[in-house]
Amino acid sequence: MSNYHIKNFEEYFHVYRKSIRNPENFWEEVAEEHFLWRKRWDNVLSWDFKKPEVKWFEGGKLNITENCIDRHLRIRGDKTAILFEPNDPKEAAEHISYKELYKRVNKFANVLKSQGIKKGDRVCIYLPMIPELAISVLACARIGAIHSVVFAGFSSSALATRINDSSCKMVITSDGGFRGNKTINLKSIVDEALLKTPCVETVLVAKRIKSTIEMKEGRDVWLQPLLDKADEECEIEVMDAEDPLFILYTSGSTGMPKGMMHTTGGYMVYTAFTFKNVFQYRENDIFWCTADIGWITGHSYIVYGPLLNGATTVMFEGVPSYPDFGRFWEIVDKHKVSQFYTAPTAIRALGKESVDFVEKYDLSSLKTLGSVGEPINEEAWHWYNDNIGKKKCPIVDTWWQTETGGIMISPIPFVTPTKPTYATLPMPGIQPTLLDENGKEITGNQVDGRLCIKFPWPSMARTIWGNHDRYRETYFSAFENMYFTGDGALRDEVGYYRITGRVDDVIIVSGHNLGTAPIEDAVNEHPAVAESAIVGFPHDVKGNALYGFVILKETGEYRDHTNLRKEINQIITEHIGPIAKLDKIQFTVGLPKTRSGKIMRRILRKIACDEIGNLGDTSTLLNPEVVQEIIDNKID
Ligand code: PRX
Repeated sequence: MSNYHIKNFEEYFHVYRKSIRNPENFWEEVAEEHFLWRKRWDNVLSWDFKKPEVKWFEGGKLNITENCIDRHLRIRGDKTAILFEPNDPKEAAEHISYKELYKRVNKFANVLKSQGIKKGDRVCIYLPMIPELAISVLACARIGAIHSVVFAGFSSSALATRINDSSCKMVITSDGGFRGNKTINLKSIVDEALLKTPCVETVLVAKRIKSTIEMKEGRDVWLQPLLDKADEECEIEVMDAEDPLFILYTSGSTGMPKGMMHTTGGYMVYTAFTFKNVFQYRENDIFWCTADIGWITGHSYIVYGPLLNGATTVMFEGVPSYPDFGRFWEIVDKHKVSQFYTAPTAIRALGKESVDFVEKYDLSSLKTLGSVGEPINEEAWHWYNDNIGKKKCPIVDTWWQTETGGIMISPIPFVTPTKPTYATLPMPGIQPTLLDENGKEITGNQVDGRLCIKFPWPSMARTIWGNHDRYRETYFSAFENMYFTGDGALRDEVGYYRITGRVDDVIIVSGHNLGTAPIEDAVNEHPAVAESAIVGFPHDVKGNALYGFVILKETGEYRDHTNLRKEINQIITEHIGPIAKLDKIQFTVGLPKTRSGKIMRRILRKIACDEIGNLGDTSTLLNPEVVQEIIDNKID
């Protein structure tokens, strides 16, 4: 029996037990059977969570793009690899076959080489959801360059921070991008970012919106003429299993974003395995993940996981509301999508609209529905199940993180009985556990605690780029010998997991991780602001929204609070991006602080969430009197 494709619940338990009894053997079998290695590994796993250091398939040699593309050419050369659906439904969809993808990736890889990019160099990719985004990712991987994709909704200053943190030599961008009825001038954002990034030597520019842009002599180069001249063959760079594949930034609870670094061999094995099982992908299925490739979901389940399995993966440029709220369903119907994977925030937003938008379309091609990025509430789960899946498509509520590289806890469709709001059971090889505040493991069922993972898995991030101490501190210091996820979870009577949300200062807004510290730093940049504290509060579409408590330096000078609120949000947009804007801003004379001067966010969170009945003991605060004043002036 192959371990690679689990087909029933009994087999799941069998495979799971086997994977826990001997994880090395388990992953070795998966790696051996399904991939192309230029040289076999010497050692399956070495690990030490204290250092921390984790190595999978050490000594193994491979190139992930050979596994994503070349390997399929003989049997699936004419099959569509990437199905590009443009923003404008009137523009024709593009079917890129495996053969064509091979040529386009090779040409792009040769362009990168001709511009001086070599193994180990960091390349920042700041592109809209157009085929060049997936192709440039693969082109980097083909020549061993480390890609760092930055979501194209981030501002110039967020982009500059990320470029500098990993000293990228090149930026790949486009003149702009289409999103619904808007066009976004990406190149001008890059130009502004590059005023602060001395490490960047070259900017490759793809054409999408055909706008007039500035091209800086000696730095900026149009992509297409170079592609036209480039050779269609590009020999792979043979990589070590532990060579870096990519860096992807995620927000931390404090300070700088964290450049999570993923390596080649383990990431390949794990994303391929989870794609196959969590979506029960079969040949000729059409898989669609609506995420942006700027997030880990797009890396693992638009690009790598599907292509490693020879799948057809849909890439959608636009937004769910354009030209109307039926767009997702129109695309499902048009391309006969089999698996549809999206975020609860999209489900909630579409669930608010009339079901006529759904009922106009034939969704009978759907087999499995997926959810990712934040807890899915019961109402959204049922709306998705009833209206989209017509009660026939299992919903896989997949829990995982940028740091984990692939899906960790999820039902397997047609295998694991689902339960609304539950991510259910761990993938093979994954050993979750719940800990109490003292670091003691909580055994048994019907319990809750902090979610940790006890044993390494192949696709875990190996470090934070340039800051291994922070990696240790963030993930391995809270509890001894455990990877700490930052999430809370409960385990029900049958052992199913339900993720309850972050237990740190990260807030998930519309599925995007936002750290409070960088937003507070941005707010504090406003000349009128003395201090600020940001907390999350429940929002019926976004899951959470942001509430800012702001102390002004001199209230008299800024009487017009409407403008001040706008200015503060403008600064946030410039520093981070519009996703981090505050929904509510309350000006206050003080913030509740401990005697050591730390802001008590717990109290502010409760006030913002209208839970003032249980604020707990406030008498030990340095300034207990401000609590009442904040409550009295709360914004509804
Ligand atoms: O809090 C969890 C939440 O998203 C966090 C990870 O965010 P990010 O690194 O951006 O990756 C998102 C896509 C994998 C987690 O720590 N999260 C993710 N999936 C779920 C979830 N919360 C509840 N249920 C989920 N299915």
